[in-house]
Amino acid sequence: MSIKRVTAGEIRKRKSEPFAVMTAYDAAFAHIAEAAGIDVLLVGDSLGMVVLGYNDTTAVDLVDIVRHTGAVARATKRAHIIADLPFGSYQASDADAVRSAIAAVKAGASSVKLEGTEAMVPRVRAIVGAGIPVMAHIGVQPQTAALETGYRKQRDVDALLRDARAHAAAGAYGLLLEMVDDAAAAEVTAKLPIPTVGIGAGPSCDGQVLVLHDVLGLYPDPPSFVRQYADLATIATDALRHYAEDVRTRRFPGSPISSVIGR
Ligand code: KIV
Repeated sequence: MSIKRVTAGEIRKRKSEPFAVMTAYDAAFAHIAEAAGIDVLLVGDSLGMVVLGYNDTTAVDLVDIVRHTGAVARATKRAHIIADLPFGSYQASDADAVRSAIAAVKAGASSVKLEGTEAMVPRVRAIVGAGIPVMAHIGVQPQTAALETGYRKQRDVDALLRDARAHAAAGAYGLLLEMVDDAAAAEVTAKLPIPTVGIGAGPSCDGQVLVLHDVLGLYPDPPSFVRQYADLATIATDALRHYAEDVRTRRFPGSPISSVIGR
């Protein structure tokens, strides 16, 4: 019997039930995240920085998101996969937005996410109208932050509530709040019928999301709101140093020892 993926409808019902979302970009880590019990994975356009080495998210394109969504989908069975619509793939028209969302779904996405104030509500409506669930992303919007407001914490509760309500009314099943003042995020969460997912938005959001590479210590200088749960960069550097040493000293290959973990 095939295992069913968590649906957007099920996530929508998680209002007031704290849940964890994690970014994932490749098969290896998507498999690990699902095995850890994380059942909502975001193929974020943070891909641009943490995997592809760009300075920001603007260079990420739909081909990138489609390729990495496919990898995450092939490595998981149950997780709900949210594909981030990248900069330039939905802003120009509703038709672009629907075409991009369809490409993401064909690659294995269960839903899509897009950034924008109430100005992007027609895109949300168009994609939902095509049968594809949408999470809207307000607060700091990295795709345009560098061009406009920058990475300042968002505190204007009236503007946030206006955008949040407009997205919910257009059919979004969830709302991501990035770098929003804790009290404002709490108010938006309390007044919205759909779950909020916070990043740098305090403890009152229904769900929380972090960037995988920040959590695992694989990216230098994570934002101050991140909690790092492991230091994989140090572990990986030590392992590769051992391997290189073993090759240089001819301890590898040829030894019957198949693993040197813990030596
Ligand atoms: O691309 C991303 O990683 C995001 C974050 C807000 C989680 O959208």
